[in-house]
Amino acid sequence: MSLEGKTEWYENDEMWELMEPILFSEARIAQTVNEVDAIKSLCKIRQDELILDLCCGTGRHSLEFARRGHSVVGVDRTRLYLEKAMKTADEENLTIEFVQDDMRTFYRKNTFDVVLSMFTSFSYFEDHEEQMLVLRNIYASLRAGGRLILESIGKEILARIFNRHSWSEWPHGFILEEREPIEDWSKIRNTWIFIEHNGSVHRWNVTHWLYSGNEIKQMLYSVGFSEVIIYGGLDGRDYDNEATRLVAIATK
Ligand SMILES: C[S@@+](CC[C@H](N)C(=O)[O-])C[C@H]1O[C@@H](n2cnc3c(N)ncnc32)[C@H](O)[C@@H]1O
Repeated sequence: MSLEGKTEWYENDEMWELMEPILFSEARIAQTVNEVDAIKSLCKIRQDELILDLCCGTGRHSLEFARRGHSVVGVDRTRLYLEKAMKTADEENLTIEFVQDDMRTFYRKNTFDVVLSMFTSFSYFEDHEEQMLVLRNIYASLRAGGRLILESIGKEILARIFNRHSWSEWPHGFILEEREPIEDWSKIRNTWIFIEHNGSVHRWNVTHWLYSGNEIKQMLYSVGFSEVIIYGGLDGRDYDNEATRLVAIATK
């Protein structure tokens, strides 16, 4: 899928591996129970509904939904993450179908009642058309009446809290982050410099789209969704000057 001879940042297995303890820290894993409560309530999920966790990572939402008796399919490109997810599912005796695939190619026509796209998993592709392709796949995969929940950092929020540089310490090293809005605030270019405690230094350029509430809404309507509601957090607050996340709920 990458352009000829070019590996895109989201195809870098070493990056996902080294970032795993940061992306899926204990604190973030611990939030999952509350997030699933909130998703269930915002999307009005019934017990018999089939859920697709798109870009499921190590499966924190898939696993939590399965623990509550829901049927879930988790899709992700990163083999290491899927192996972790499958191991946890096995240990807990949970039945979840995990699929290694790309969000640009995965779809199952009229199959799912709910699609989750959590924690800024939609926005990675350089080309706007590829972004639209992901939305079209999601739309095709939903049954009539099905809902997508798409949760990310909104453009308005990032502009409000913008911080050009930051660093943080983790058990396996330090991460320095540098951020720059590019293409008239269409995208954010992040440079992540990860310094392992053993002295190894890794540098990754992670550029992704930034959408305003209205931009994502128009994109969702344009692929066919009949209703789109934008919230400012999983707690259902307004998308206003105090919003903490951009959460779109789109109904087919
Ligand atoms: C920020 S993580 C979010 C994981 C999960 N949704 C969560 O909330 O914990 C983004 C995920 O997207 C996956 N990913 C990146 N590019 C992808 C692609 N092209 N197709 C499918 N998954 C992809 C990564 O492997 C990673 O697991």
